[in-house]
Amino acid sequence: MEHRFFVEYPPLPGTVLEPAGVTLKPLQGLGVAVIGYGTMGRAHALNLRRSGIEVVVGAREGSARGPRARSEGFTVLPVAAAVAGADVVMLMLPDTSMAGAWQRDVLPHLQPGAAIGFAHGFAIAFDQVVPDAGRPCFLAAPKSQGDLLIELHAAGRGVPGLLAATETSPAATWDLAAAYGLAVGCLEGGGFVTTFREECVSDQFGEQAVLCGGVIELLKAAYDVLVDAGYGAENAYFECVHELKLITDLLHRHGVAGLRGRISGTAAYGGLTRGPRIIDESVRARMREVLAEIEDGRFARELLAEHERTAGLAAAEAAGPLARAAGPLLARLNPGGDK
Ligand SMILES: NC(=O)c1ccc[n+]([C@@H]2O[C@H](COP(=O)([O-])OP(=O)(O)OC[C@H]3O[C@@H](n4cnc5c(N)ncnc54)[C@H](OP(=O)(O)O)[C@@H]3O)[C@@H](O)[C@H]2O)c1
Repeated sequence: MEHRFFVEYPPLPGTVLEPAGVTLKPLQGLGVAVIGYGTMGRAHALNLRRSGIEVVVGAREGSARGPRARSEGFTVLPVAAAVAGADVVMLMLPDTSMAGAWQRDVLPHLQPGAAIGFAHGFAIAFDQVVPDAGRPCFLAAPKSQGDLLIELHAAGRGVPGLLAATETSPAATWDLAAAYGLAVGCLEGGGFVTTFREECVSDQFGEQAVLCGGVIELLKAAYDVLVDAGYGAENAYFECVHELKLITDLLHRHGVAGLRGRISGTAAYGGLTRGPRIIDESVRARMREVLAEIEDGRFARELLAEHERTAGLAAAEAAGPLARAAGPLLARLNPGGDK
């Protein structure tokens, strides 16, 4: 076979693909249908096109974002038609829409040898999409938000990515996944081999325990404690929320050990001695509970049944003290509006 990007087929989880050794060849000449033009679908479509790959966008009837895809120069087709004409079908849909779209608009129209691809592992890991036997099925998950991926790719750069293929995929699917990762800009710093399940479980756990759950609740709790003790709301906001960006920038660049050497001695001593009292064994125990709910499918079932509660939960949070304090301060701190 002409293209062998990995030493072993299938590559073992943990294998890292270096972008310098990858070419676009396995993807060149193929037609890609990007289904869904949300944040990630748009990023994939624009970056693929910039890499010289032929792309059409598939949009549902009455799609809110189809007009944008058209105005950005793409041919926009109904999902079934886009799928029918494609060699590679990228499902860039919300997790909760995958099963319905797959059954109704994708599976019945797929060409026999066409590949399907994803930017996140949920649909395969939790059986929302069950590919027919021998179907090439891969994951190319950029470790980035979509708009940033567009910006970096336009500047000739990219982000790291996670790559996977289902066990029943032909070996050549790995070459396609690698070429696809190169085309959308998710091999910079490495293409890390994983599985759909590992990507999904660790992604959801990170969101829940840290990024979109644990950290936000930590901020709310710290803000409330300072304000309830009589300290000014602005002070509390600056100390407990605003400065988080300074710390995460250091962490991103220098890691935990590098961070400690770049903050004041007082901050380092206070953090090292008090941090473990805040995040103690009881927090770790609850984190393990949350992880178990993801692993055994309880979270997936709850999400599919109850995701419509999200807007109400977010509205309740927006009416809370921290969110209300943020409004006027953000207007001062970000003059010129939303950036
Ligand atoms: N957002 C990110 O930065 C990010 C990062 C990493 C991975 N991902 C992954 O990328 C994938 C897409 O996420 P996203 O954030 O881009 O989603 P999104 O912004 O919510 O956009 C979803 C798109 O799918 C369309 N859609 C929804 N239900 C559909 C259906 N039943 N049939 C056809 N089209 C349908 C929407 O249609 P309308 O045009 O009508 O709105 C929209 O164009 C997910 O697997 C996600 O986990 C996203």
